[in-house]
Amino acid sequence: MRGAVFLAVLVAAAALGAAAAAAGEGRPAAVEVDPRWRFPSRRLRDAYVALQTWKRQAIFSDPRNLTADWVGPGVCNYTGVYCAPLPTGPRSRGGGELAVAGVDLNHGDIAGFLPPELGLLADLALLHLNSNRFCGVLPPTLRRLRLLHELDLSNNRFVGPFPDVVLDLPALRFLDLRFNDFEGPVPARLFDRPLDAIFLNHNRLRFQLPDNIGNSPASVVVLAHNSFASSAC
Ligand SMILES: *[C@@H]1O[C@H](CO)[C@@H](O)[C@H](O)[C@H]1NC(C)=O
Ligand SMILES: *[C@@H]1O[C@H](CO)[C@@H](O)[C@H](O)[C@H]1NC(C)=O
Repeated sequence: MRGAVFLAVLVAAAALGAAAAAAGEGRPAAVEVDPRWRFPSRRLRDAYVALQTWKRQAIFSDPRNLTADWVGPGVCNYTGVYCAPLPTGPRSRGGGELAVAGVDLNHGDIAGFLPPELGLLADLALLHLNSNRFCGVLPPTLRRLRLLHELDLSNNRFVGPFPDVVLDLPALRFLDLRFNDFEGPVPARLFDRPLDAIFLNHNRLRFQLPDNIGNSPASVVVLAHNSFASSAC
């Protein structure tokens, strides 16, 4: 779809005051693992730590009880968590081993934040969190998600500057940050990334058409930047 850029730039109003982004400060250490449990692999043990830390320390409200069955070592059975065998190949590590490949909590109405331990989900290809109440900033540890292909954080309460961590994800093709409270400039480097879709509308981002926008292979780029009152974390 290179060259078929559909550009919808809707420029509106100025930004309002800064939102607090302090979620996650002073947190306890990551959860511990019962030493009697045997996990099929180190990567599923890491996934357990990531998901349990998220549930116990960084999710404050889960009205649909999506994480209610996030109990015990069988992370592949948790609601919204999808496992798949890792690809095999000459350069892949752990080929054929079961790994957490997707987390989909879309429309969960969950309140909380993303803890740094999510960087332990190293094999994640899909992270779909749209229409929740996640707030705060994206942890820099997300840059460990070398296989992440789709990141949908739309319709949440994320704040802070454009999350540069998404520029460091080599496999990322679909980026949806719509309807959040990100603010400040959009880095031009975004348009040099091999993304198929970029949705940034309805944030408080400042945007000037950069010289390199034609470099983007994306078939859809939506950059509308309205301004909203900051939402509470
Ligand atoms: C979630 O669990 C709580 C407590 O068990 C229950 O009161 C509530 O009805 C459940 N909500 C849904 C949507 O199932
Ligand atoms: C996952 O659920 C299936 C079916 O209920 C069960 O047989 C299996 O033991 C569970 N796996 C783990 C690791 O808990």
